[in-house]
Amino acid sequence: MIEHRLIERMIAVLRVEVDRVKKTSTPDAVAIDRIVDFIRTYADQTHHGKEEDILFRELQKKEQSDEDRRMMEDLIADHVKSRETTKALVAAKECYLKGDDGAVAEIASRMEFLAGFYPVHIEKEDKHYFIPAMKYFTKEEQEALLREGREFDRKMIHRKYEQLVMENEATAHVVPKKMDPNWMDFL
Ligand SMILES: [Fe+2]
Ligand SMILES: [Fe+2]
Repeated sequence: MIEHRLIERMIAVLRVEVDRVKKTSTPDAVAIDRIVDFIRTYADQTHHGKEEDILFRELQKKEQSDEDRRMMEDLIADHVKSRETTKALVAAKECYLKGDDGAVAEIASRMEFLAGFYPVHIEKEDKHYFIPAMKYFTKEEQEALLREGREFDRKMIHRKYEQLVMENEATAHVVPKKMDPNWMDFL
């Protein structure tokens, strides 16, 4: 749950930026891009990614109590809501950059939502789900989850920058070079 602590630190930064936007009505597109990059890459693809693709996937196979299953479904719905809100924030920022001052209120409200959402979501997981959910796993299964999580993390930085290169190639009309896998692939 160490990742929750880093997310909380970025949410504190987001909180400051929301208050500034509400006071001045001048969104900072670069600050929004930085916050969105963190939310998308770290909080969503890496952190929520491991929750959904590893932990929840394995919990789906278990006979959970009604209360635990309801909580897991609630957490999954939270992830969807946060993705939708981040997407809407990016769209509002794009409108603002095109000169639509009406987008400022939308930007502030989407940022405000995210700043309020994460602490509540994290508290649900920290205090009401992750620890009780561990009872469904044996020691060996818990170790397998850890191993798979580490492998997921290892691949993440490569996925992130491959995506960035692909987007830049498309913008620059550069045809991607073929990448042949070989034994030196750790470098
Ligand atoms: Fe989560
Ligand atoms: Fe989480």
